[in-house]
Amino acid sequence: MHFVLFIFILFFVVIIKSQAEIKKIEAACRIVAEILESLKSFLKAGITTADIETYTEKHIRQRNAIPAFKGYRGYPSSICTSVNNQVVHGIPSRSVKLKNGDIISIDLGVVLDGFYGDGAITVPIGDVGAEALKLMKVTEEALYIGIASAVVGNRVSDISAAVQGHVEANGFSVVRAFVGHGIGRSLHEDPQVPNFGRPGQGQRLKDGMTLAIEPMVNAGTPGVEILDDGWTAITADGSLSAHFEHTIALTTDGPKILTKI
Ligand code: MF3
Ligand code: CO
Repeated sequence: MHFVLFIFILFFVVIIKSQAEIKKIEAACRIVAEILESLKSFLKAGITTADIETYTEKHIRQRNAIPAFKGYRGYPSSICTSVNNQVVHGIPSRSVKLKNGDIISIDLGVVLDGFYGDGAITVPIGDVGAEALKLMKVTEEALYIGIASAVVGNRVSDISAAVQGHVEANGFSVVRAFVGHGIGRSLHEDPQVPNFGRPGQGQRLKDGMTLAIEPMVNAGTPGVEILDDGWTAITADGSLSAHFEHTIALTTDGPKILTKI
């Protein structure tokens, strides 16, 4: 008896999904993708991050889905809105108003019929500087390069190493304090998917795994600090940070992006 328990503590439990389960995750992810897409035209200078929260929650509920983040470990909102030097988990607020030149990452998760979808984008507000543009471009590219390594038979850290390699080749740094994750009937399942590491380590990638891959990239050094609200992560050196995330399913035909229209 004790031995069985011990095994469960030692080994990570990666849940393989059936086709029917992947269809349900895909339905949740479609809502995430559509709302993130519609946000691209909603976001503009002058609105507050609380306005984005209101808009997004309304659209989630219109589609009969539930905001996945609200109440998660006490998180107070439906989305995370992280502006400029904020890395992730920024809490929407009446007092944060977007202005020309900002970059903002929106992280959105929903539950539909018991299954989760999770995605994030970083968007420029008006005319942003060259460094910010490059940071967003490299972070999104790193996400796609990571996804391209999410091939059945590879290992988890092959994704990690691919992301890190692209980011560092471009002079930026990957955040170590937060990682991507398995997803399904829970927002966070095993395995963890770091955005750094040597290739060839960790769990073997299998057909039917569903993962949220989410590079967080700082223009400066990789360190982060948490604000007194207990959530908002900012760059330790004050540099800009970007974040992109997709939920994907691993298939024998290669990775399938679910949070894409
Ligand atoms: N995409 C993030 C994650 O998967 C967002 C979580 S915010 C939280 O961890 F509030 F739900 F924690
Ligand atoms: Co996530």
